[in-house]
Amino acid sequence: MMASAVKRIGVLTSGGDAPGMNAAIRAVVRTAARMGIDCIGIRRGWHGLINGDIVRLDEHSVAHIIGRGGTMLYTARSEEFKTEAGQLKAVANCKLLGLDGIVAIGGDGTFRGALALSKHGISVVGVPATIDNDISCTEYCIGYDTAANTAVECIDKLRDTMQAHERCSVVEVMGRNAGHLALYVGLAIGATAVLVPEERETFGLHTLADKIRNARLNGYTHYMIVVAEGAGSATEVGNYIKDTLGLDPRVTVLGHIQRGGFPNARDRLAATRMGFHAVELLAQGKTNRVVCSESGEDITDVDIVEGLSMHKGISQQQVKTLAAMTGI
Ligand code: F6P
Repeated sequence: MMASAVKRIGVLTSGGDAPGMNAAIRAVVRTAARMGIDCIGIRRGWHGLINGDIVRLDEHSVAHIIGRGGTMLYTARSEEFKTEAGQLKAVANCKLLGLDGIVAIGGDGTFRGALALSKHGISVVGVPATIDNDISCTEYCIGYDTAANTAVECIDKLRDTMQAHERCSVVEVMGRNAGHLALYVGLAIGATAVLVPEERETFGLHTLADKIRNARLNGYTHYMIVVAEGAGSATEVGNYIKDTLGLDPRVTVLGHIQRGGFPNARDRLAATRMGFHAVELLAQGKTNRVVCSESGEDITDVDIVEGLSMHKGISQQQVKTLAAMTGI
């Protein structure tokens, strides 16, 4: 593997954790080691960079973590890093530690932090990891597939008891302001209806009563409603169903369980390939880039400013499919 002018890099995870973050850290550390680059783990994200919270990493420190959820470097959301004073403290620590670049693994907030740091002259490469899958410049984010599968497994279990009692289930799925996860999960569980923030006209609350009524007319006696957290509270949706249709729904907020668990093969592979690519970029002197991918397989990169200014809509192909599956 080629030697590089880059001698030392840092790696951190920031924002909400996602299954596969550990696999990405491992790939960064191992790739750096093969290139003769020293690797420093920065604990607790940007907060840790401000406070000089570091751990030296070598290839042995990342053994047996490829299949573990969470992040061995811990993660945090830092208000201080949003300030100029916080960023200057982080820059000073980069200089003190002799870091030639940083690989920042996380979501949109992490990349906004990376952009701020790059404006102070620090080289940064972002690796997208969030169960929300809402980073505009990449179709795929590490953790999305595992989280979707966790949600599907939970909802399949809920369906069993809803079927037995002939009830209506309202399940709230994470995603912050985006409906990617809810749409994906809703399609995968064969939901009666899915509410997502991006498509309020087609999939808003006003369409719910008709969908449940249609299901009943078609012979169903239990109903599975998936609500993206950005589309509203599952409790409110449950109350609406009670008031409108006289059903007695059961409400479940899946919550943080969606972020945990062993990353699946798709996320381990995406994380490994993206982590590898991030170090290659820094080693080649390319900086202020975000690693991206269409499917988790083809790995490319874009300029961080360009990447953050892109808009990522919800998949229209999935929207059309859902409309066909839910009958309206
Ligand atoms: O961004 C990941 C995410 O899990 C979102 O889906 C959710 O809205 C948020 O983080 C929850 O944040 P916290 O872990 O701070 O409760």
